[in-house]
Amino acid sequence: MTFKSSFCSGRRGFLLGGATVIGAAATGGLPLWSSIARAGETPAPDIVDMLLRPGASRASLVSNPAIQTDVWAYNGTVPGPEIRIRQGQRLRARLENTLPQETTIHWHGLRIPNAMDGVPGVTQDAVKPGGSFDYVFDLPDAGTYWYHPHANTTEQLGRGLYGPLIVEETDPLRVDRELVWILDDWRLDDAAMIDSGFNAMHDVSHAGRIGNVVTVNGLPPGELVVRPGERIRLRLLNAANGRIFALDFDELAPTVIAMDGHPVTPHRDDAPLLLLGPGMRFDLVIDIPVKGKTSFAVMDRFYDGMENRIASLAVSGEAVRDGVPDWDMALKPNPVPEPDLDQSTRHDLVYSGGMMGGMVLQQMTQSGHITPEMLNRMGIEDMAGMGNMMRSMSGSGNVWAVNGRDPDRDGDGPLVTLERGQSCRLTLMNATAWLHPIHLHGHAFRLLARNDAPVNHQPWLDTVLIKPGERVEIAFVADNPGDWLIHCHILEHRVGGMSGIIRVL
Ligand code: C2O
Ligand code: CU
Repeated sequence: MTFKSSFCSGRRGFLLGGATVIGAAATGGLPLWSSIARAGETPAPDIVDMLLRPGASRASLVSNPAIQTDVWAYNGTVPGPEIRIRQGQRLRARLENTLPQETTIHWHGLRIPNAMDGVPGVTQDAVKPGGSFDYVFDLPDAGTYWYHPHANTTEQLGRGLYGPLIVEETDPLRVDRELVWILDDWRLDDAAMIDSGFNAMHDVSHAGRIGNVVTVNGLPPGELVVRPGERIRLRLLNAANGRIFALDFDELAPTVIAMDGHPVTPHRDDAPLLLLGPGMRFDLVIDIPVKGKTSFAVMDRFYDGMENRIASLAVSGEAVRDGVPDWDMALKPNPVPEPDLDQSTRHDLVYSGGMMGGMVLQQMTQSGHITPEMLNRMGIEDMAGMGNMMRSMSGSGNVWAVNGRDPDRDGDGPLVTLERGQSCRLTLMNATAWLHPIHLHGHAFRLLARNDAPVNHQPWLDTVLIKPGERVEIAFVADNPGDWLIHCHILEHRVGGMSGIIRVL
């Protein structure tokens, strides 16, 4: 297999490791589980069966293909097999744990029943080594999603456990070619083995586990040959533990058509770089120019002076057409309920802690955005109290806090409790000196505003990247009952306490 082919995900086959999706009609040898197909049930939608087996494997992560890295992978490949399914279909995925430790599967971004959400201790018991679990759910929304473990996530994702889940529109977008690029970042030692120092205090209290090797679809960045005039749909996904990518598309000027799976008014981003935090996705349309430049570089420029090449595009061959096609780029919206902003309840979550966090908390307090009442709730009475809290937090290993506590572990119950069907407006305040991609399970939310300024297109998201000192307002209808995690997707930050539960009754 060449590096080139790894970039080319055809409409059906994802060319990594011979992964297959077994449709209901296919003779894939998987049992049709009787426990699911009960007699007398209303006729089931088309069903896609999938067997996911996380376990030890090897992967060529570095440019010398003779060097193999020991990884953990689903069905032996990094990324795991692409699950491609049509909107409205049902997925039946059996997890068979061949890892030496407990695991689960979380279906990131999918609005599915709580019992299928894959959070050990919250929605299910972790699956022991040798054990199995059947996930069964319907896919309400089209878009670009992914799956990954939610047990010991820093290590399990850090060793390579993740895969794409693509839900096709019933009326798919017209393009010449579709690509899925899953970006990841690995911390390898000199022998190209994965550094086993997971949850290091420095990673937990700073930017997360940042690595030294970047891969696209589990391979070193390579070259993709494209034709002049080709229209490409690129599905981008960041599966790294901590690395944020800031992508520069050279002169390709991509059009954003979906964010976190959900359609958005097709637009070109005003920002020069596309910011992709861990957990986030973008669907882009790229029209390859018919004339002019014949090579383009996609670069990550997040860290000054530490750029990474993500891909090179070489334009060659005969032109597919002589201009930009006038095909529609707008996708049909997903059936996400619209929050009623007038009737909504309001809540706020203040994120604090981390290196230099006291300073930002102080600034946001002085500017009046964090009120004395909020500080009180955080157990802080005055500026001295703020210093004490920071010190006691770092002493206990809980580097981060939400509303002044570590709700995931202190047993104080949910951060927010909502009636089913209620519209909720949530203000997320980043009173830290670091960026945080905050991810909500089980729902999509509308991003309304940043620092009180309405956001363009107000996209539906499941993960929102919040800058230091920034206030972000989101809204959603709490229509999915259960306890849902809301946490930072920089996985080491979650370990350090940046997590909590939203309960929908
Ligand atoms: Cu992508 Cu709580 O996870
Ligand atoms: Cu974070």
